[in-house]
Amino acid sequence: MSFNLKTYLKEKRNLVNKALEEYLPPVDNPTRNLIESMRYSLFAGGKRLRPILCLGTVEALGKNPEHCLPVACAIEMIHTYSLIHDDLPAMDNDELRRGKPTNHVVFGEAMAILAGDGLLTEAFFVLSNYGLNDLINPTKLLEIIRIISNAAGCRGMVGGQTIDMEAEGKEIEPSLLEMMHACKTGALITASVESGAVAAGASNEARNAFVNYGRHFGLAFQITDDLLDVTGDSEEMGKPAGSDEARQKSTFPALYGLEKTREMAKFHVSKALENLQQFDDRALPLRELVKYLLKRRK
Ligand code: IPE
Ligand code: IPE
Ligand code: MG
Ligand code: MG
Ligand code: MG
Repeated sequence: MSFNLKTYLKEKRNLVNKALEEYLPPVDNPTRNLIESMRYSLFAGGKRLRPILCLGTVEALGKNPEHCLPVACAIEMIHTYSLIHDDLPAMDNDELRRGKPTNHVVFGEAMAILAGDGLLTEAFFVLSNYGLNDLINPTKLLEIIRIISNAAGCRGMVGGQTIDMEAEGKEIEPSLLEMMHACKTGALITASVESGAVAAGASNEARNAFVNYGRHFGLAFQITDDLLDVTGDSEEMGKPAGSDEARQKSTFPALYGLEKTREMAKFHVSKALENLQQFDDRALPLRELVKYLLKRRK
């Protein structure tokens, strides 16, 4: 079967971008600055990896991914909010994101905080509308909302960001470092595949396999993000290289060195692939996507 990951990603990115345009409120007075600030970061050119993982999971289970666009887009809104807040002076204090000046540099800190708040809340508005329009069974939707809110909040991403901030300038135990990565990045990535699996009506066995794929994908993703912070190019990545060292972050390369860190990324990629063994060719995009993590330059 011939499959081109680049074409696939472009196709799915276009779908997601079109749907996001549809869901966002119009730029209108008197909140025009807020909506502009939300749109600025949302459309700055992210890879759309999480929504694509969600759609790819639906596809792997033989269902039409387009029906799941509200879930995919809600997750991208939450992810974008997490980036806006992650870049704030009180957190990582970075000035470049998705190839553009960060939100607070353009709109000011107060508006960047509000844009993040706005995107987080909008995500749940989009999910509620998905249910109201009878596009999904309400019990399934409730389960999806539970998965996403659990992954985004204090048990997931926000919790991981807390560990990250408190670990600055310290050497932490390997187990805490892995937990930090699993929470700050892995949780939302796992929720992307798990919510796709639930939307597509996966069996418990299939759902567990996707969750395990997501967990290893998430770890491989943050480990390669840490690697890129050391070895990557700011222009290519669209965000500053060397930010972790400057803030004395606890990262895999800082704890283990580059070579061992690369081995760990490979290990998680192979574990993720193992969990897809039971699926047919329709899981090919998910297989290619996790393999690409080892080659990614942004
Ligand atoms: C960056 O995520 C934040 C991390 C969890 C490492 P991405 O690398 O997916 O960022 P975008 O969405 O493509 O900008
Ligand atoms: C952030 O991790 C993960 C988030 C939840 C936003 P990083 O701080 O390493 O992400 P980048 O490198 O700034 O994208
Ligand atoms: Mg950070
Ligand atoms: Mg950061
Ligand atoms: Mg990083």
